[in-house]
Amino acid sequence: MQPLSRSHRNQFPIPFFGLPIVLLVFLASPTSSCTEQEKSSLIQLLDGLLQDGGLTVSWRSDTDCCSWEGIVCSPDRRVTDVVLASHSLEGPISPFLGNLIGLLRLNLSHNSLSGGLPLELVSSSSIIVLDVSFNRLTGALHELQSSAPDRPLQVLNISSNLLTGPFPSTIWKTIDNLIALNASNNSFTGPIPSDLCNSSPFFAVLDLCFNKFSGSIPPGLGYCSMLRVLRAGYNNLSGTLPDELFNATSLEYLSFPNNDLHGVLDSARMIRLRNLRILDLGWNNFNGSIPDSVGQLKRLEKFQLGHNNLSGELPSTLSNCTNLKTIDLKSNKFSGGLSKVNFSNLRNLKTLDLWSDNFTGTIPESMYSCSNLTALRLSSNNLHGQLSSKISNLKYLSFLSLGKNNFTNITNALQILKSSKNISTLLLGYIFKGEIMPQDDKIDGFENLQVLDTGECKLSGKIPLWISRLTKLEMLVLRGNQLTGPIPGWFKSLSQLFFMDVSSNHLTGEIPLTLMEMPMLKSTDNSSHLGPRVFKLPVYTGPLLQYLVVTSFPVVLNLSNNNFTGVIPPQIGQLKVLVALDFSFNKLSGQIPKSVRNLTNLQILDLSNNNLTGAIPAALNNLHFLAAFNVSDNDLEGPIPSGGQFNTFGTSSFDGNTKLCGSMLIHKCGSAEAPTDTILSTKQTDYKVAFAIAFSAFFGVGVLYDQIVLSRHFG
Ligand SMILES: *[C@@H]1O[C@H](CO)[C@@H](O)[C@H](O)[C@H]1NC(C)=O
Ligand SMILES: *[C@@H]1O[C@H](CO)[C@@H](O)[C@H](O)[C@H]1NC(C)=O
Ligand SMILES: *[C@@H]1O[C@H](CO)[C@@H](O)[C@H](O)[C@H]1NC(C)=O
Ligand SMILES: *[C@@H]1O[C@H](CO)[C@@H](O)[C@H](O)[C@H]1NC(C)=O
Ligand SMILES: *[C@@H]1O[C@H](CO)[C@@H](O)[C@H](O)[C@H]1NC(C)=O
Ligand SMILES: *[C@@H]1O[C@H](CO)[C@@H](O)[C@H](O)[C@H]1NC(C)=O
Ligand SMILES: *[C@@H]1O[C@H](CO)[C@@H](O)[C@H](O)[C@H]1NC(C)=O
Ligand SMILES: *[C@@H]1O[C@H](CO)[C@@H](O)[C@H](O)[C@H]1NC(C)=O
Ligand SMILES: *[C@@H]1O[C@H](CO)[C@@H](O)[C@H](O)[C@H]1NC(C)=O
Ligand SMILES: *[C@@H]1O[C@H](CO)[C@@H](O)[C@H](O)[C@H]1NC(C)=O
Ligand SMILES: *[C@@H]1O[C@H](CO)[C@@H](O)[C@H](O)[C@H]1NC(C)=O
Ligand SMILES: *[C@@H]1O[C@H](CO)[C@@H](O)[C@H](O)[C@H]1NC(C)=O
Repeated sequence: MQPLSRSHRNQFPIPFFGLPIVLLVFLASPTSSCTEQEKSSLIQLLDGLLQDGGLTVSWRSDTDCCSWEGIVCSPDRRVTDVVLASHSLEGPISPFLGNLIGLLRLNLSHNSLSGGLPLELVSSSSIIVLDVSFNRLTGALHELQSSAPDRPLQVLNISSNLLTGPFPSTIWKTIDNLIALNASNNSFTGPIPSDLCNSSPFFAVLDLCFNKFSGSIPPGLGYCSMLRVLRAGYNNLSGTLPDELFNATSLEYLSFPNNDLHGVLDSARMIRLRNLRILDLGWNNFNGSIPDSVGQLKRLEKFQLGHNNLSGELPSTLSNCTNLKTIDLKSNKFSGGLSKVNFSNLRNLKTLDLWSDNFTGTIPESMYSCSNLTALRLSSNNLHGQLSSKISNLKYLSFLSLGKNNFTNITNALQILKSSKNISTLLLGYIFKGEIMPQDDKIDGFENLQVLDTGECKLSGKIPLWISRLTKLEMLVLRGNQLTGPIPGWFKSLSQLFFMDVSSNHLTGEIPLTLMEMPMLKSTDNSSHLGPRVFKLPVYTGPLLQYLVVTSFPVVLNLSNNNFTGVIPPQIGQLKVLVALDFSFNKLSGQIPKSVRNLTNLQILDLSNNNLTGAIPAALNNLHFLAAFNVSDNDLEGPIPSGGQFNTFGTSSFDGNTKLCGSMLIHKCGSAEAPTDTILSTKQTDYKVAFAIAFSAFFGVGVLYDQIVLSRHFG
């Protein structure tokens, strides 16, 4: 905005002193005030509003409109600024504001204004800055008469509205002083305007992200010699980055994520954008490798190419981009070792995300010099080796994800990481294959650990005591190991734990009463002191679901696929906050406790493949959120409850209980015939798989997708 603020200063050398001077002038000569015509233009705005946010108190027609709230006048009593941002205004924007012939700045952002954007304002012969962002404006933009005189508009912010339709081709031709156009977060369609800088030579900022623009990136943007910011992410753009674009050498911010762009990152062209600070081309179809010339982009701070088809090794020249703060190359096909890059040059690096590539070798020692690193994700690669004790140099590290690699020695890893005071998320699934879960009492520390995932590691041993000392733990994933023994009695002391998955182990014993006392499962009162904890990197739990905050995970208790025996404790009814309860594939006996009816937040209840007897409590039809219910393969009897959600469950929810009866089963209630077996046993396993997928996809149960979960089911 340099050119803009300079021009302001030239035209109005005393903007900050304007108000006191206005007051002085007002006191000195009470007869001089704003003109009746200006006053009536403002009153027309007020009168048209459905909700004026209390403006009437100040906007009284018997007073000088220069003294009204949100109004600034020039020394000669002309209204120059109307600044009514965040005033709770509702209703239309009056076109009569265009009659304020001295109006320079109109800021109506953050209101609930509706209707269209009056063209009178865009084509005003005085307005320099027009900000109507964050409102509810609708409709399309219209063509402007090109016969109008010189239009001074420099900044137009129409972002975060409900505007639709294509950009009319003539509109930008006639606004030839435009410096910044922000139309982000609307529903605009059609092509991106191509000739913005033919008519506006000082054009510098274009933000079109979060719309429905389509077509290719117009080469004309390359002629914008002053263009600094170009953002058009989250649209339907296709084609390649045009050659001409790389002539816009002032570009500092180039961002096209979530489009359908393709092509290679050409070495010679890349070099020209030496001023680039932010390059974001994530979620497109770019291929080829990262050119060596990236090293010449000395100012680069954010380098985001995640979710493309890029391949090859990382160029060693990346070490020359010493200002890098964020490197995101996740979900590509990069390969080779990481040690070519000298990370010790990248002292400013805060986030390094290499999830789901094909990198090999070990973690380079130089990475441990990036002392500002807060988030490191190397999961889903082919890395091997043991963790180096030097990782404790990374004092600010709070998110560490290493899963799905070939790392070894979990004892070593935990011994090293335990003293990292800031670690809050530790994702270690699918590594340390077949090792022993360290029982070591010397594992303490982990003062701030909130999320621990050592799922699918085939670890043997017992659930270790050191976990009881993780007092901040909110999520624990131990599924897919070979842990034996009972669930220890100390679980209820983990006062923040709300997500517990110990499924697919060899755990035995009864379901302990300690689980029925877990504070976070019992009462929502506790959740208030759990502020939303932001993951440093989004954690994926399904192909389409990503979690940014820990607390948006559902409350889950998953004990399935173990060897638990005994009954389901009636105290289960205390766990009122539970959203998913899975006790399937165990050896539980006895009845389904009636108290399950009190779990009114339940969306998933799976008790299948046990040895449960008795009736399904009729009151379960009061569980209004229940979306998935499975009691198949037990020994239940009597009628299936009817009504409520029970009308939506298919027969597969009940298969394998020969003594159950119901209208949807072959075995009708009250019929005297011998019960017929309704199971198609080949279907059963399919069903289980389908259920597990739905379970995972909806609730992220299981190993955080970060480490890829579902391959087991799809495989
Ligand atoms: C309009 O006002 C809002 C809220 O004060 C501010 O954030 C925004 O920068 C202003 N717009 C312009 C163009 O100065
Ligand atoms: C609208 O966009 C302009 C130009 O990008 C910017 O200066 C202004 O701060 C934005 N307004 C708000 C409320 O963000
Ligand atoms: C455009 O406006 C949005 C708010 O709607 C804001 O977040 C964004 O930073 C603005 N873009 C630029 C380049 O100023
Ligand atoms: C880029 O600019 C150079 C001169 O600065 C010019 O020779 C060249 O043709 C331009 N490239 C494109 C694709 O416009
Ligand atoms: C860039 O990096 C390469 C390889 O790491 C190095 O040989 C070269 O000297 C560096 N260039 C500059 C200008 O720093
Ligand atoms: C770490 O970041 C801070 C600012 O966040 C910066 O002042 C400091 O120099 C950085 N540390 C290193 C080693 O670069
Ligand atoms: C990963 O790299 C190996 C060789 O190191 C190669 O055989 C394999 O095909 C690569 N996988 C992918 C998905 O590119
Ligand atoms: C991982 O390690 C195992 C055992 O050491 C080995 O069989 C396997 O080939 C390794 N995988 C890769 C991708 O290096
Ligand atoms: C694993 O780490 C521990 C602790 O650092 C060490 O004593 C042990 O030798 C390591 N085991 C292997 C197989 O390297
Ligand atoms: C349960 O125990 C039986 C027999 O002891 C064993 O065969 C089975 O694998 C165990 N199941 C699980 C999930 O641990
Ligand atoms: C359900 O909870 C209420 C109190 O919240 C309690 O009075 C009632 O006994 C519980 N019902 C069952 C079946 O446990
Ligand atoms: C189920 O319970 C019955 C009797 O209650 C018992 O005979 C049977 O062995 C049990 N089955 C299993 C798999 O535990």
